[in-house]
Order: sequence, then C-alpha cells, then structure tokens
Amino acid sequence: MDKKVAKLLNEQINKEMYSSYLYFQFANYYHEEGLDGFYNWYYVQAKEEMDHALLMMQYLQNNNVAVTLEAIAKPDKTLEALVDPLKEGQTHERYVTGLIHTIYEAAYEEKDFRTMKFLDWFVEEQGEEEKNASDMLARFELFG
Ligand code: FEO
Repeated sequence: MDKKVAKLLNEQINKEMYSSYLYFQFANYYHEEGLDGFYNWYYVQAKEEMDHALLMMQYLQNNNVAVTLEAIAKPDKTLEALVDPLKEGQTHERYVTGLIHTIYEAAYEEKDFRTMKFLDWFVEEQGEEEKNASDMLARFELFG
C-alpha cells in the first residue's frame, strides 16, 4: 500500500477513537442531565465509532501494514446547554466526512482501487451520520 494512504488510514484510526471518546462524553453529559434517550443515542454512536476504528485497523493489517496507536485526545467540547452535543456532533461529523474524503482522494491519486472500495462504505456512512445529526438538531429546535 502507498505510504501516504497507509499513514492517513492509520491516523484515521485515532480520529475514530477520538470520535468514540467524544460521543461517550456527550452520552455522559445527557446521563447527568437525566435524558436517557439522548444518552442511549450517543452511547450507541460511541460504540459505532470504535467499530469504525477497528475496521480500519483490520484493513491495514489485512494489507500487511503495521498499525501505530497514538494517544487519544481528551474530549474538549464545552457542554453548557442541552442542545450543545447535537450542535457539536453535527460539526464533528462534517469534519470527519472531510477526513474520509481526503483519504479517498489520496487513494484515488495512487489508483489504489482496493482502498477506494473499502472507503466507499465510510463515504456512505458519513452521509447517513450527517443526516442523523441534522435531523436530531432540527427536531430538538422544533420541540425546544
Ligand atoms: Fe466514524 Fe462518524 O465517523
């Protein structure tokens, strides 16, 4: 595998794990606020993000690329209002979409069709996650 593509995928493992941490922070916040439905939503999202990281780790290993695990940053979002995780979540998913597209672009440039195919699922998944984040926010604002 091309070194640049491998490096980007390896970095993405860390970013997916950070996403998982971030969503656990959101889940914990809602738990403390007594909103069990929102807690559960982000708890499930957090586990999904960890699955994304594991898929990438497995993909690199299946292609004989050694995986380097870096420190996961502390979730740094300030949550003061009940709507804050939803807003931060939407911003974060848009950011992640950009990251996935950057890896896709690198794979495309290298004619790494296998990685493009692997990433197709993530491209679609990001579309879904952005939609979910927008829908959650729209409903929250609608009902207050
Ligand atoms: Fe795995 Fe929504 O990023």
